[in-house]
Amino acid sequence: MVLVKHKSWAEPYKIKVVEPLFITTREFREKVIAEAGYNTFLLRSEDVYIDLLTDSGTSAMSDRQMAGLMLGDEAYAGSRNFYHMEDAIRKYYGYKYVVPTHQGRGAEHIMSSILIKAGDFIPGNMYFTTTKLHQELAGGVFVDVIVDDAHDPNSLFPFKGNVDLNKLESVIKKEGANKIPYVAIATTVNMAGGQPISLENLRAVRELTSRYGIRIIHDMTRVAENAFMIKMREEPFKDWSVAEIVKEICSLTDGATMSAKKDALVSIGGFLAVNDEFVFEEARNMVVIYEGLHTYGGMAGRDMEAMAIGIEESVQFDHMHARIGQVHYLGQKLIEFGIPIVRPLGTHGVFLNAKEFLPHIPQENFPAQTLAAEIYIDSGVRSMERGIVSAGRDSTTGEHRFPELELVRLTIPRRVYTQAHMDVVAESVQSVFETRQGINGLKMVYEPKHLRFFQARFEKK
Ligand SMILES: Cc1ncc(COP(=O)(O)O)c(C=O)c1O
Repeated sequence: MVLVKHKSWAEPYKIKVVEPLFITTREFREKVIAEAGYNTFLLRSEDVYIDLLTDSGTSAMSDRQMAGLMLGDEAYAGSRNFYHMEDAIRKYYGYKYVVPTHQGRGAEHIMSSILIKAGDFIPGNMYFTTTKLHQELAGGVFVDVIVDDAHDPNSLFPFKGNVDLNKLESVIKKEGANKIPYVAIATTVNMAGGQPISLENLRAVRELTSRYGIRIIHDMTRVAENAFMIKMREEPFKDWSVAEIVKEICSLTDGATMSAKKDALVSIGGFLAVNDEFVFEEARNMVVIYEGLHTYGGMAGRDMEAMAIGIEESVQFDHMHARIGQVHYLGQKLIEFGIPIVRPLGTHGVFLNAKEFLPHIPQENFPAQTLAAEIYIDSGVRSMERGIVSAGRDSTTGEHRFPELELVRLTIPRRVYTQAHMDVVAESVQSVFETRQGINGLKMVYEPKHLRFFQARFEKK
């Protein structure tokens, strides 16, 4: 489904401050990407023209958020900004207890350590890199129970973030409910292409898990984006506000981890939130060891104030309409150019299907890693790999995992770029597509132990 045909989603703001961008030469980009080991994470940002590496911490703040920064109360304990943030979390998400962390993975670390014990299984709607690693470090094993459509880039199923209830129930029956500390539900599903879960499906997951007495822990990193897609695509909720749907999603879960660097429009920050007093108490004990006091958790007062304001802005319809409208504008252009991308379009970026884009490069030669490097060389546009490198190695066999999805993510920061930037990006992808036959794969020459996509280095085959 295409959300936007006309320009009715025009940005609900005007630009007050600008940051200059610089265009480099192709020769320069060929040199620096080789020096960066063909890994876009290892480029210097000043060598990038349009930065679509991630939507994490890269959003533009509003004037209200900027004003909020000036109200930072940097007291070590009991900062007033913490209480503002806690109020916003309770008001918009509805969870009872809040523990702040420096970003999402800080919350994942604490939540996994409290709830998971060695030998446990954590079913979820597709893995996320940091989330799964923390589950494994706590002794658990992640089990993918997402619908099969999520693994098929060409399936047009509108809710590819849904859980396959049969898969979930089989895991519960096979492993036993006492071995499943929680079901991990992400809104939206990043690795599937920013795909939403439906409210109907989430309600069914709640019903099933309640029958077995199992918690749902919500990765609510992009919950407002998911809510917007529910409003657009799920008939019974078309008249609900984004804020009402967000609250409903949260109410169907027992607790959450949040990277506030996405939906909540801040450069840094996160939290975990729960309804269970026991988990809260444990988390409050742990946060002081790993993150900071329980009223800042690694954030400055000013960051917490900006988050409180950002949460409120994130559930505004006009904001979401323009944000997702822009992602769909780029996606639609690429579809018109005949570029293979994940469909239907998701929420935080457009995902190129590298297996179809570069069918002559076998997966062990990293087609998505290669494609991201080629797009950078073509135009200075930075994207990132979401395929075999991100999937890492099997923890028992030590072999590469070969995911179905071998993708390049063009991630759109919120409120940062214009439609003209999207046109440049689309034209660059098209020009790489036209010369794709001449592109060869890569070999990995350095591999870090964890989350290898961040720091691995490659050379041309
Ligand atoms: C779905 C999802 N969960 C968790 C995280 C981890 O959050 P952070 O990067 O703030 O540690 C991310 C960040 O990319 C994410 O997209």
